[in-house]
Amino acid sequence: MLNIAIFASGRGSNFEALQRAIVEQKFPAAIVVVISNNSSSGILTLAQSFGIPALHISQRQFSDANYFRQNILGILRAFKVNFIVLAGYMKMLDAEIIREYPDRIINIHPALLPKFGGEGMYGMNVHRAVVDAHEKESGATVHYVNEAYDEGKIIAQQRVDVSPNETPESLAAKVLAVEHQLLPRVIKMLSEKNWEKGK
Ligand code: GAR
Repeated sequence: MLNIAIFASGRGSNFEALQRAIVEQKFPAAIVVVISNNSSSGILTLAQSFGIPALHISQRQFSDANYFRQNILGILRAFKVNFIVLAGYMKMLDAEIIREYPDRIINIHPALLPKFGGEGMYGMNVHRAVVDAHEKESGATVHYVNEAYDEGKIIAQQRVDVSPNETPESLAAKVLAVEHQLLPRVIKMLSEKNWEKGK
């Protein structure tokens, strides 16, 4: 059983797509807690509307990085989290948290990595860069998280065409629609693999 913590910063549409897929398709996974670094992010109220505990935790609430890290690790243990999904989390996850969950943290990125990744490449910046580069295709990537931005092993990608008159906004909408398919598909696959191993 995957006991998932979602880390996010924004509206939470990927969280919602995943939660709906878990409930409808009944694969062996559950989102047990949502953590956002942003007190005004839509995901906090959205998660509560699904009855899922949602917490605002930001580095700024702590006097140093160690307290912040210990607080997050404590929450993850309390909710028996064994898998972390970064779904629109605009911060780098603390390196010690990454080391605590080897091969158990994934991220969804709104482009076809290894292109259009790295520091500063998030949200609309990514789509603007893809359109400016006159790419013929873009898409979504789900990958494992390691200590380098967007460089962990790729698990799956889903492509979309970039039309000649594409705008960053129209591309964002197209990519988001495939993100909502890709993330549940990957979690379903990983949870079933995990279940077979009897974990
Ligand atoms: C998604 O498009 C996700 O790929 C992107 O933020 C959006 C969050 O949307 N993530 C990144 O850019 C991370 N590098 P959501 O809050 O509606 O799920």
